[in-house]
Amino acid sequence: MGFPKDFVWGAATSSYQIEGTAGKDEKGMHIWDIYTKESGRVFGGHTGDIACDHYHRFREDIAIMKELGLRAYRFSIDWSLVLPEGTGKVNERGLAFYEDLIDGLLEAGIEPYITLYHWELPYELYKKGGWMNADIARWFGEYAGIISDRFSDRVTHYFTLNEPQCFIGLGYLTGEHAPGLKAPVRDTFLMAHNVLRAHGCAVQMLRQNAKQPVQVGYAPTGAMNYPATEKAEDIEAARRSFFSIPDEHNWTWNVSWWSDPVLLGTYPEEGIRKYEKYLPHITEEDMKLISEPIDIYGQNIYNGNCICMGPDGTPMEVKRRDGFPRTANNWPIAPECIYWGPRFLQERYHKPIYITENGISCRDVISMDGKVHDPARIDFTARYLSQIKRAIADGVDIRGYFMWSLMDNFEWNRGYSERFGLIYVDYETQERIWKDSAYWYRKVIAENGKG
Ligand code: FCB
Repeated sequence: MGFPKDFVWGAATSSYQIEGTAGKDEKGMHIWDIYTKESGRVFGGHTGDIACDHYHRFREDIAIMKELGLRAYRFSIDWSLVLPEGTGKVNERGLAFYEDLIDGLLEAGIEPYITLYHWELPYELYKKGGWMNADIARWFGEYAGIISDRFSDRVTHYFTLNEPQCFIGLGYLTGEHAPGLKAPVRDTFLMAHNVLRAHGCAVQMLRQNAKQPVQVGYAPTGAMNYPATEKAEDIEAARRSFFSIPDEHNWTWNVSWWSDPVLLGTYPEEGIRKYEKYLPHITEEDMKLISEPIDIYGQNIYNGNCICMGPDGTPMEVKRRDGFPRTANNWPIAPECIYWGPRFLQERYHKPIYITENGISCRDVISMDGKVHDPARIDFTARYLSQIKRAIADGVDIRGYFMWSLMDNFEWNRGYSERFGLIYVDYETQERIWKDSAYWYRKVIAENGKG
């Protein structure tokens, strides 16, 4: 058995990473606009001010997507382009951009999948406390309502938040991402709670203003731990470690604290015990809001740890062999994680799954023949796709796959030093060059993943 007939073959991007809208058309500022201007924050002092200039070149980019045969495109909306102050006055020029993008995609036969928040907190809201302020749930709801009101006649798939693990963990605990704070652990738990409440409000507002039935989801990430062998005890060890709760110094890096409340309506007990002294006041009403039913589960998957059952009956990480394959940014290449991750997630949460991101950073260059040869990306993707195929054959309801990324782009604190794209971007000229993997992916899509 191969991929289902209606499998959604896609690619993903996010607004700040590609658009290049800083200071344009009455856009408000967001935390990344500010953060990238602080010296020493981002590799090479790079910023997303211009990025891939997608704001002006989106028609060319849609033509590339059409040529690739993409069935769907996952992109995010910049909250501060639509609502320069985060709430209140709407910037029609911002909405018009997304309107043109959406219409262009639909004309090209590509289904738009919208992510509402891919890390750009409007600076005006940050100044009011951002995620620390309980009102942010309402602010985010207001924004979600506007998007639904404007686009749900044409767009039926939405993800509220991208990777809360990262934007709280890296943004406020380790300080590697905007806004670059090392906040007290206690504050990060309050922020996380408000993040989840904001998700709930957005789900409500997306539905409330929808012009037709919409599919609403959430797009977290996490280490997709997988078993060392198929022995029952190793599988159990991997499952336990997959949903386990880390110590507080890097607490955001886990699955269940972020997903149990959304899907099961409760925080995991192990976490409540472990984090007790840091937790804000959590009400039943909050939990009801957070667990507002969603339709689909998006999961960004890159890697995971190999786990076996230790001699003392607790899960144990298996040391990677010397020379274990790695990506250019040093992430381990572990295709099994995209089999076991969705399987464990479906067992626990019972939702259809979309792989909302998966991809690899390579040291891509334009060769002397003028082409970009990236066999490592093809090999990586073929391996990961074969594990998705296996998961589907074993009954896991995976509905779609979005490659990260459609094109090279601004990789957060790594600036332009990482290339994740199917399409190579020359940032000097803004020329787009198809990598070998793009031609390969086009064939995969055309053959519905056969082979
Ligand atoms: C994910 C992010 C995405 C991109 C990829 C490489 O964590 O969601 O924006 O940076 O990693």
